[in-house]
Amino acid sequence: MPDSTPKQRVELEDLSLHEGASVLLRRALSGLAAGDWCEVHGDSAELADHLAAWCRKQGLRCETQQGVSGTFRMESAGPVPLISTSRTEIAEAAEADWGIAPRGARIERGGPEFGFTLSQKRDVWARELNSIYSQAAANQWSAARDIPWSELPKLPMDVEAAVSQVMTFLTENEFAALYVPARFIPRIHPHYREVVEVLAMQVVDEARHGEVFTRRAEAGAAGLGTTAVSGQLSLKTLLEEPDFTTATFLLCVMGEGTFLTLLKFLGDHAPDPVTAVLARLAHRDEARHVAFGVEHMRYVFEREPEIRLSMASAVERRSQMLASISGLSPYVHDALVVYAGGGLSIAQLRAGARHVAELQREMDRSRRERLHSLGFEPGLAANMSAYHTKNFM
Ligand SMILES: [Fe+2]
Ligand SMILES: [Fe+2]
Repeated sequence: MPDSTPKQRVELEDLSLHEGASVLLRRALSGLAAGDWCEVHGDSAELADHLAAWCRKQGLRCETQQGVSGTFRMESAGPVPLISTSRTEIAEAAEADWGIAPRGARIERGGPEFGFTLSQKRDVWARELNSIYSQAAANQWSAARDIPWSELPKLPMDVEAAVSQVMTFLTENEFAALYVPARFIPRIHPHYREVVEVLAMQVVDEARHGEVFTRRAEAGAAGLGTTAVSGQLSLKTLLEEPDFTTATFLLCVMGEGTFLTLLKFLGDHAPDPVTAVLARLAHRDEARHVAFGVEHMRYVFEREPEIRLSMASAVERRSQMLASISGLSPYVHDALVVYAGGGLSIAQLRAGARHVAELQREMDRSRRERLHSLGFEPGLAANMSAYHTKNFM
């Protein structure tokens, strides 16, 4: 019998181990150092046998207190070694042994390696993450509830075909915008959970955009349009970009930034109320995606201003890879002209072509302005905007 006095006493009364007594035992042991003793008293049936078995399983010594019925002593193995993390302090580098634990939790040592390769704050962080996330959560909309599908008129066939072609093009781009963040999410250390949450919302937004644009095309008489090789090649270069910051710059700043102008145009020139609502709701979501991209770039540029040049080369490199592509696919170009002009008459085509030329100028202007706000010199911003893919995304 050890002579040290017990550091803890537990009274179980008639509570047996399988009825919950183990909760009290673990609580008592958790406060003890290795080698400390805990005295247990109880009068449930077979407590001696059950306690002995329980202690054997935990690797603890257990002894009967001689001469005192229903009294036992257990020797603590000491507290389980835990790693403490701060909930509020965002570490510059997240440790591999924090595993998949929530920030602020106590973490048992010896967990598995997850291989989160984006584990530096600089890799993924942005300001305004909480505000972007809460806006995203508050502004979720539903394809079934928020679109006036019953108000879709029967449009002239040429205009309906143009709308469907535009919807087909938008949907391809939505897939790209969904896959890019989706492939990075499992690489981001969960210590930076705000980034994971914002990107997860972005994925949900893109899934909904793809759904409604496809549904709009299928709701009319024309059905889905044609997907061009040029558009696919352009999107493939986005999907294959291996670096998170570069991919975020190309997708969220350059691509989705350009799409903001496109969606505004589609809302303003929409031939029917359904298409107009879709374009406006998607525009609101895209503004948040652009905000994340811009804030991430700001965070990176403040620390590593020279990364601006890497971004400029990434835009140029992508343009060289796409050099064989002459420009915007004729399917999309022609559809935009008919969409904005309202038909195929000479006057309508002339008006539509003028609107599309204005659209492209406005895209260029807003790209340059966004790049300028990120600290790119006007000359470099103009070059980068000119190099940006003619397929918009
Ligand atoms: Fe989208
Ligand atoms: Fe987006």
